[in-house]
Amino acid sequence: SVLIIDFGSQVTQLIARRVREGGVYSEIHPYQSAAEAFAKLKPKAVILSGGPASVTEAGSPRAPDGVFSSGVPVLGICYGQQTMAEQLGGKVEAGHHREFGRAFLSIDKPSPLFDGFWSPGTRHQVWMSHGDRVTRLPDGFQVIATSENAPFAAVADEDRHFYAVQFHPEVVHTPNGAKLISNFVHKIAGLKSDWTMAAYRRVMIDKIRAQVGKGRVICGLSGGVDSAVAAVLIHEAIGDQLTCVFVDHGLMRLGEADEVVRLFRDHYNIPLVHVDASEQFLNALARVSDPETKRKTIGKHFIDVFETEAKKIGGADFLAQGTLYPDVIESVSFTGGPSVTIKSHHNVGGLPERMHMKLVEPLRELFKDEVRALGRELDLPEAFVGRHPFPGPGLAIRIPGEITREKLDILRQADAIYLDEIRKAGLYDAIWQAFAVLLPVRTVGVMGDGRTYDHVLGLRAVTSVDGMTADFFHFDMAFLGRVATRIINEVRGVNRVVYDVTSKPPGTIEWE
Ligand code: XMP
Repeated sequence: SVLIIDFGSQVTQLIARRVREGGVYSEIHPYQSAAEAFAKLKPKAVILSGGPASVTEAGSPRAPDGVFSSGVPVLGICYGQQTMAEQLGGKVEAGHHREFGRAFLSIDKPSPLFDGFWSPGTRHQVWMSHGDRVTRLPDGFQVIATSENAPFAAVADEDRHFYAVQFHPEVVHTPNGAKLISNFVHKIAGLKSDWTMAAYRRVMIDKIRAQVGKGRVICGLSGGVDSAVAAVLIHEAIGDQLTCVFVDHGLMRLGEADEVVRLFRDHYNIPLVHVDASEQFLNALARVSDPETKRKTIGKHFIDVFETEAKKIGGADFLAQGTLYPDVIESVSFTGGPSVTIKSHHNVGGLPERMHMKLVEPLRELFKDEVRALGRELDLPEAFVGRHPFPGPGLAIRIPGEITREKLDILRQADAIYLDEIRKAGLYDAIWQAFAVLLPVRTVGVMGDGRTYDHVLGLRAVTSVDGMTADFFHFDMAFLGRVATRIINEVRGVNRVVYDVTSKPPGTIEWE
């Protein structure tokens, strides 16, 4: 296994993901408890993550010294490089030579780290994000690559198997970065690729059993892939200790509620309570138009409904959710400072104290495409696993401004036509997510001989790997024209259709 010591970087999980993709088991532990984790896990390799601190500050985080004296190969990334250099007798300087974003790396020496893709004398794009830099190497180290602002961009002590890089190999903006991590794990540390989704499933099942014991678990189903995979996995772990609750908040797409109920009752035979809470939600949302207020209102009512349902089944000790890793970091902050909330994802943020329920979140470390792979491993029907993501707050965040039943109806019909055309054109699987947005704007049109004054409908479709960045999908114009004509002809209340050509960033995928 690989121990990843976390110094607080926003992208530490991506290191774990790259290691997983290489078929190797890893665990992330914060630097504070890394010494215990190292002793317990007995890893064959250690990776030190990046982080926001500066090693030049007193009291800044360090790796346990035992890691360096154990003989285990170590790879330091960014802050990890700096603390490694400092701890082994080198020198780090603060400030002056900041490098953020794309940089070019010149390869100086061959190294097993670069084997197969980077050779001496060549230059390659990498992703940098650092203020401090190493200025003197510890004994035994040599430079294997440089960049304009980082003379020690990659360094190695080949005898001791210590490697350290100033750039971030774990992000996709460093092409070949994944191969670098793979070389470290496989060629340098000698680990085999035997960690598969089947193995992940077994380990998660053990973890769920250990966490839950004989407790009762209630799991919220949203209709999406994530909560379905979480529920099926938990059911496999603890059987009838699990009850699923599907809360229909009246903000689902056309036919969605029935599909979910059928999948769980017929296909899996998992106990499912279907609560029609649409009155409660729609009343609470009446006259609410601020996006964050919508999200918080929906989140609060979800908790209320769960609490009621938990009481009905005689109390539950745990609440299970299909929270994914991107949900966790986007709610904490991805692009901003330590507490910038981009959107309050309704399924993140813990529970009110009064609930006395603990969270079971078996997918918290995974990215969407990994959850799909796990779903396939659990035999979920392809039609379900391959579904586009659907946000917890549902259609509420696709109706900017006030939500009414009439608007919801219009949106449901238009959305169904759009998706129908996408499926017919064979484009569904090429798109990460496609949906319609009903705008609070009316425009003038002409139909037959009459004037119309109706809503504008926005169409959105994006491609993405994990939902964290996205590009708008390039439909051909004839396709968009066909969808617009069908929607305007078939859906009363819409007389104009527009297509959203914003990528993420700077836009988000949803409009609210
Ligand atoms: P944004 O709009 O933030 O969305 O670019 C990224 C992905 O997350 C989905 N999304 C949510 N999923 N609860 C969820 O379960 C939420 O509150 C939520 N908000 C956005 C969105 O559909 C996209 O796939």
